[in-house]
Amino acid sequence: MNTIDIVVAPGPWDPEPWRKAFEARCGTRKVHLWPHDGEEVDSERYVICAWKAGEQVFEVLNRPEAVFSMGAGVDHLACLASQPNLPIGRIRDPDLTMRMVEYVTFATLYLHRQIAHYQAEQAAGRWAPVTQAAASDVRIGILGVGVLGKACGLFLQQLGFQVAGWARSSTEVGFKVFNGREGLVELLQQTDILVNLLPNTQETHGVIDRQVFENLSRSGKQGAPAFINAGRGEAVIHADLQAALREGTLSGAVLDVFGVEPLPSDDPLWSMPGVLLTPHVAADSEPDVVVGQILHDVFRLEAGQPLEHPVDLGRGY
Ligand code: NAP
Ligand code: GLV
Repeated sequence: MNTIDIVVAPGPWDPEPWRKAFEARCGTRKVHLWPHDGEEVDSERYVICAWKAGEQVFEVLNRPEAVFSMGAGVDHLACLASQPNLPIGRIRDPDLTMRMVEYVTFATLYLHRQIAHYQAEQAAGRWAPVTQAAASDVRIGILGVGVLGKACGLFLQQLGFQVAGWARSSTEVGFKVFNGREGLVELLQQTDILVNLLPNTQETHGVIDRQVFENLSRSGKQGAPAFINAGRGEAVIHADLQAALREGTLSGAVLDVFGVEPLPSDDPLWSMPGVLLTPHVAADSEPDVVVGQILHDVFRLEAGQPLEHPVDLGRGY
């Protein structure tokens, strides 16, 4: 039986680190970069490894044995949901997970330790201490407690924070997890810092709206609530987030992802006090790690086995 070749469609990413990483591990297997090496692929058997590559690659190369997202999110593969028999893989790896844990921990501490206040005071040359709550008095609510949300929650618990979450069906992942619309309201009412780590699906689209921000607790020792978004911007009603920050419903935010990326240069969020923006860098995909995980699954396909962690595009994640 022929070995399975690799088509890499890295979309907006610099293709060369990906070529290098795949070629270093692929032996005699062909590695084809799409569209950089041309759109013709003469391999009999191949998989496609893609990141925001657009739909055309799947229209032109329509016989892949599997498609892999080169990140954790699979929203960019939604066009393949109509092919239920096509195996879909994604990155699910300790390296990416730890990067997200770092980011969410940093963002939580940035808000909890009121760093935006001290940055403003430093710029004005003022020595201006404010009352500091203990971590054990601060409640973190995490929307989405999958691979990333669970790891972030467990780490924050170790720092002493009170952690709870919200998910579609999970109920306990080392901390309490709420479900359904009523469960969401219950979680929000006991949350000081809200973290979004939901995938972008039809169901999560716009789920974080004005009502969500208004339902957050305002009676905690942390003061007015704050928001961290490292999942996807599409989960948030952007105008509601802007209004909540402008009107003081939220005291601050750390935002890595946006419905429109790059965030337009005239967006008011760029200059709002108490808002820290990063350009979708919370948990980057490391080529060597991604290649190792994909090849592991390619070996499984060659042995007639299913992918280790298949994604169900029918439910969207
Ligand atoms: P995952 O393992 O698939 O977990 C998804 C979580 O969301 C699960 O807990 C799931 O509930 C929950 N969920 C899905 N749909 C829901 C709904 N309609 N209502 C309530 N909960 C729902 O995903 P992951 O690996 O943790 O990654 C999460 C997301 O992070 C990715 O999809 C991606 O968008 C984003 N991400 C961002 C970056 C970055 O750099 N900013 C990097 C990597 C990933 P169940 O537990 O009940 O299934
Ligand atoms: C990044 O956003 C990812 O989904 O891996």
